[in-house]
Amino acid sequence: MEDKKIIVRLRGVVKRFDGDVVVNHLDLDIREGEFLTVLGPSGCGKTTTLRMLAGFETPDEGTVELEGKDVVGIPPNERDVNTVFQNYALFPHMTIEDNIAFGLVEKKVPKKEIRERVQEMVKLVRLEGMEKRKPSQLSGGQKQRVAIARALINNPKILLLDEPLGALDLKLRKQMQQELKYLQKKLGITFLYVTHDQEEALLMSDRIVVMHDGRVEQIGTPEEVYNHPKTKYVAEFIGASNLLEGYVTEIEGGRMTFSFEFGKINLKSRGFKMEEMFYLCVRPENLRMSQCPVEHFHIRGRVTEVVFAGSVNRTFVRLVNGQVLRAESQPDVEIYPVGTLVYVYWNPDKCSFLHTQEDQIYDVIEEEIDKTLEEEANVSIDDVLPSE
Ligand SMILES: Nc1ncnc2c1ncn2[C@@H]1O[C@H](COP(=O)(O)OP(=O)(O)OP(=O)(O)O)[C@@H](O)[C@H]1O
Ligand SMILES: [Mg+2]
Repeated sequence: MEDKKIIVRLRGVVKRFDGDVVVNHLDLDIREGEFLTVLGPSGCGKTTTLRMLAGFETPDEGTVELEGKDVVGIPPNERDVNTVFQNYALFPHMTIEDNIAFGLVEKKVPKKEIRERVQEMVKLVRLEGMEKRKPSQLSGGQKQRVAIARALINNPKILLLDEPLGALDLKLRKQMQQELKYLQKKLGITFLYVTHDQEEALLMSDRIVVMHDGRVEQIGTPEEVYNHPKTKYVAEFIGASNLLEGYVTEIEGGRMTFSFEFGKINLKSRGFKMEEMFYLCVRPENLRMSQCPVEHFHIRGRVTEVVFAGSVNRTFVRLVNGQVLRAESQPDVEIYPVGTLVYVYWNPDKCSFLHTQEDQIYDVIEEEIDKTLEEEANVSIDDVLPSE
C-alpha cells in the first residue's frame, strides 16, 4: 500500500465556525485504493473534514489537493468525489433505478449506456427485482445500498462515506460492513470512511486516522493504533487498556527500572531519560497473573472481581495504591478466585510506553514495594512466557 500514489493531500487545513477552531492544522495523505477511516468522538471534526474534501465547505487555511491539483474553490460537482450520507439522501419521488442513474443523467451520458451501467450497479449491490420501487418501499439496508450504488456509478476517484451504517441495527450493520469492504476491494476505489465506532474502524480499514478536538492523534494501520497507541487518548479511545503512570528510576546495563506508585518493573531500555515520566499501556488480554513472584516484575495485587463474559474471563486486580487493573483470559486458562494475592506481569513486547508532558512526581509507596521486592522471584520470565 505504501508504494501507491497519493491521491488526496491535505496540508495545514484549518476550519473555524464562529471563531471556534473545529479542524486544527490537519495534514493527511490518502493513497489510491486504500480504505481509510477517520475515527473520533462526536464533534471532533470528522464531517467537516469530509465536507472540505467534497467541496461543501472551504478551509480557512491550508491546501486541499486532489491528484496533485488544488481544489479549494472548485464546486462539489466538478470534483471527482462522491459522498454517501448517513441519512441516504435519496430522491423519494424517483424509482430506485432513477435514483441510481441520477449522476449519469446529469452528465448527459447516452441512454443505452445508462441502462447498462444501472443494471450492473443493481447487480453489484444485490437489488435485482427492486428497480421500479420507490425508496419508501425499501428497508434501511436496501436504501443504504441504493445510496452506495448511486455514488459508485459515477466511478469517483474517491468515495466519501459519512457514518453510512449509523442508522442500521447491529446485525444489518455487521453484514453491511462486510459487503462494503468487499465492494471496495473488488472495485479498487479509494474509500474515506467516517465513524465513531472503533470496532468498525478496526475491522474495515487499511489505515485509521484517530481524531480528537479537530486534531490528528495518530495515523496507522488497525494493528498499529491498537497495539502501539502513540498517545494516552488513543490508548483509551481504542479498545480497553490498563494505563500505568510512572517514571524511570534506574538505567543500567541496557535495562531500565520503571517505577510506579504500586511497584516496579525492570525491562530492556526504551527511549527514556532518568526520572522521565511515562504512561505504560497494557491491554487486558496481555495482562497475566501468577501466585509466585515473576522475574523483573514487582507488582502485587489482590483479585477483587471475576466476571464470566462468554468467550473470555475478566479478572480485576486491585494494586496497593487502589488502582484496579483488568485482565482478560481465555476460558481454558485457570482463574484465581476473589481474594487471591497475585503477582501481575506481561510479555514486555506486548505493552507500549507513551511519553507524557506532565512532570508531577508522586510518592512511591516504598514500604509496600519493598515488601514485594523482598520476595525473591522464583519464576523466570522465560518460563512463564513461552515463545509466542
Ligand atoms: N455549519 C456549522 N456552523 C457552526 N458550527 C458547526 C457547523 N458545522 C459543524 N459545526 C461544529 O463543528 C464541530 C465539528 O463538527 P462535525 O460535524 O465535523 O463533527 P463530527 O466529528 O462529524 O461529529 P459527529 O460524530 O457527531 O457527526 C462541532 O462542534 C459542530 O457543532
Ligand atoms: Mg459527523
